[in-house]
Amino acid sequence: MDAEHMTSFTRGERVASIEISEIVQISEAAARKRAAGEAVITLGTGEPDFDTPDHVKQAAVDAIWAGDTKYPATRGNPPLIDAILGKFRRENGLTFERDQIIVSAGAKQILFNALMASLSAGDDVIVPAPYWTTYLDMVTVCGGRPNVVTCSAENGFKLTPEQLEAAIGPDTRWLLLNTPGNPSGAVYSVAEMRALGAVLERHPRVWLMVDEIYEHIVYGADGFTSALQTLPRLADRMLIVNGVSKAYAMTGWRLGYGAGPAPLIKAMAVVQGQATSGACSISQAAATAALNGNQDFLADRCASFRERRDMMVAALNQSSGLSCQMPEGAFYLYPSCEGVLGLTTPGGAVLSTDADFCAYLLDAHGVAVVPGRAFGLPGHFRLSYAYSKELLESAAASIRTACGALR
Ligand SMILES: Cc1ncc(COP(=O)(O)O)c(C=O)c1O
Repeated sequence: MDAEHMTSFTRGERVASIEISEIVQISEAAARKRAAGEAVITLGTGEPDFDTPDHVKQAAVDAIWAGDTKYPATRGNPPLIDAILGKFRRENGLTFERDQIIVSAGAKQILFNALMASLSAGDDVIVPAPYWTTYLDMVTVCGGRPNVVTCSAENGFKLTPEQLEAAIGPDTRWLLLNTPGNPSGAVYSVAEMRALGAVLERHPRVWLMVDEIYEHIVYGADGFTSALQTLPRLADRMLIVNGVSKAYAMTGWRLGYGAGPAPLIKAMAVVQGQATSGACSISQAAATAALNGNQDFLADRCASFRERRDMMVAALNQSSGLSCQMPEGAFYLYPSCEGVLGLTTPGGAVLSTDADFCAYLLDAHGVAVVPGRAFGLPGHFRLSYAYSKELLESAAASIRTACGALR
């Protein structure tokens, strides 16, 4: 077709302002360098380096040979729904009915379904920063307005009750919390959650969505308490988001689940029914085995993450200009790089922003990490420590050298 008759594509307004996530962009930049023959260590992606357990893989193989290959139920197949009910009873002391559970292609789709099912134009969703980048774009795609509240490092990157009270307005539909958190690793204590709950009790129109996908990666002596355990009075307006990706090293299986009030779950099923239908039947069989099977290895994996966390926090705090808090959960660090801003690289470039620092780390020292601006709190950067000890040691040495070379 000649140029005169070609129609150029324009995006719809819900996605007009959204770009491919910075996390993906960093991975792509690292991949380009690797393809060009350069050594690159990527600490950018958030997935466990463990393998999916063998009994889970076997359950998937068995499902294939048993002919479990037809359209699954939109909300999830009964054996998996039962396994999820059992998980909530066993691990969280929570009792749900079957119509309060939905299974999706990842926790990501649970979040999307919930926002799509509930938001009208102009509704706002309170998102504490630093946030997982996806939250913001998802709220926008679903027609809502993200209401970002900055949570300082001094307060452990956590939302305070005062901040919550000040952020709630007539259009607030949801507070979206993530604990343990990506990118900060922050975990809300029972007392902190209660204090936020007390504010929400004064605002009955505001719902609470809590992403608990990292629940099995917590380091504190108190372990993990689900928000619904702490705030049972909010049961009729709370959605718990979870999945098997992080705990069972099943990121590629795409299997998440949500638990909440039946009318919300029903509306989420309406969205999912028109988008993807039920989650992959084979992945559902695998997730059923994961949730019903032996859970002992979770503690070992968590201990391994703790060792790596301790090593990396110490190494970063020995790098001049960086300072890193000790996070209480997940497998991310969110160090401040304020101390290197304004300094000059050996190549003569002045580092003005966290993105400049991350570009310098990648270009000059072959370490890929994600700038804090992607998570709504600049002056920091995120790295994942779900990598081998050798790789982390090598990355830590490069970061130390990179910082030491700045003037
Ligand atoms: C906070 C948080 N929620 C949800 C997800 C996505 O989980 P899933 O793989 O189940 O879609 C991630 C993945 O990085 C995450 O960090």
